[in-house]
Amino acid sequence: MLALIMKENAVRESEIVNIIFTATPDINAAFPAEAARAIGLSAVPLLGAQEIEVVGAPRLCVRVVVFVDNGRHRDSVKHIYLRGAVGLRPDLVGVQTFGMLNVAIDGPAGAGKSTVAKGIALRMGLRYLDTGAMYRAVTWLALSQGVDLQDAAILSRLAREMIFDLNADSQLTLDGRVLGNEIRTPLVNVSVSLVSSYEELREVIVEKQRKLALRGGIVMDGRDIGTTVLKDAPVKIFLVADPRERARRRLVELRALGHDVDLEAVVLQIEQRDYFDSHRAVSPLRPASDAVIVDTTNLEVEMVISHILDIIARKKDAI
Ligand code: DC
Repeated sequence: MLALIMKENAVRESEIVNIIFTATPDINAAFPAEAARAIGLSAVPLLGAQEIEVVGAPRLCVRVVVFVDNGRHRDSVKHIYLRGAVGLRPDLVGVQTFGMLNVAIDGPAGAGKSTVAKGIALRMGLRYLDTGAMYRAVTWLALSQGVDLQDAAILSRLAREMIFDLNADSQLTLDGRVLGNEIRTPLVNVSVSLVSSYEELREVIVEKQRKLALRGGIVMDGRDIGTTVLKDAPVKIFLVADPRERARRRLVELRALGHDVDLEAVVLQIEQRDYFDSHRAVSPLRPASDAVIVDTTNLEVEMVISHILDIIARKKDAI
C-alpha cells in the first residue's frame, strides 16, 4: 500500500516528512517499520498506532497516512484503497462528501438484496436498513394484536406509534427491542404485501425511513428506495434474478428457520408477490430511471458485492 501511495502520487522519499500507520483494534500484529524498509525507506520517521473503536466503521483495516512536503495541494492527493475498500471512513470525511453517501438497493423478493446490501454497508462502513423489515414489523404486530388487515386506517395508526431505530450493529429495533425471526414467519410472508399496499401506511413508514437516512451514510434495501424514499441517492441498484432461482434461495432460508415448505409452493408465492408488488397503485416495484440493473441469477454473492463496489467507485470518480 505504501509503495502504491508513493507511486500514484509521484512522491519521492526526500519529500516525506513522516508516515503514520494505523490499524483497527481487531488487528493484533502489524509491522510498519518492516514494510517501510521493504520498499527501501530507511530514514523516514514513522509511527504505528492502534485506532480507537469506531461504531459502524469497517473491521480489519490498516491505514497509511504519508505526510509530504512537495508544495502540492491536498485536494490533488490520490487515495489508495485495497481489497474492497472504496472510501475514507465516514467520520473522517465531511457530510457532503461521498463517504457519507446513501445507496439504494431495490428489487423483487429473493434477488439477494439484503445479503448484498449488508455486504456493501460492512465494506464501506455505512449503516444498513432493511426497509421490508419495517412493513413486516407492522404486519407482525397487527397479526399479534388481532387487527383486521383490511383496515388501512387502524394499521396506519399502529404504524405511526411504532418507534424504529438502528442499533450500533445496524439491527432494526422496534420500541428499543431488536426485531428477530418473528417477522419472517409464513403467515407474515403471505400478509405483508397487503399491509404494504396501503397508501397512508406507506407514507408513515417512508417518513420513518427518511428520518433514519437523514445523517447520510446508509445502504437501504427495499422496493421503492430509488423511486420514492431516497430519490436523490447517488447510487441506485436494482437487483433482479430468475423467479425459480429466487424461490430456491427463499427455500433455503425458510428451511433454515425450520419451516417445511416445497419449492413449487415457494415459486408460486414469489410470483404472486412479484405481481402484487409491481401492480399495486402506490409505489409499485420498478427500477428508478437512473438505477443500474444487476442480474444475480448466476452470480455468487461476493461477485455481486464486488460488482456493485466497482459501480460505486466509478460513480465516486465521476463526482
Ligand atoms: O423484502 P421483504 O420480502 O422483506 O419485503 C416484505 C414486503 O414489504 C414485500 O411484500 C414488499 C414490501 N416492501 C415494500 O413495499 N417496500 C419496501 N421498501 C420494502 C418492502
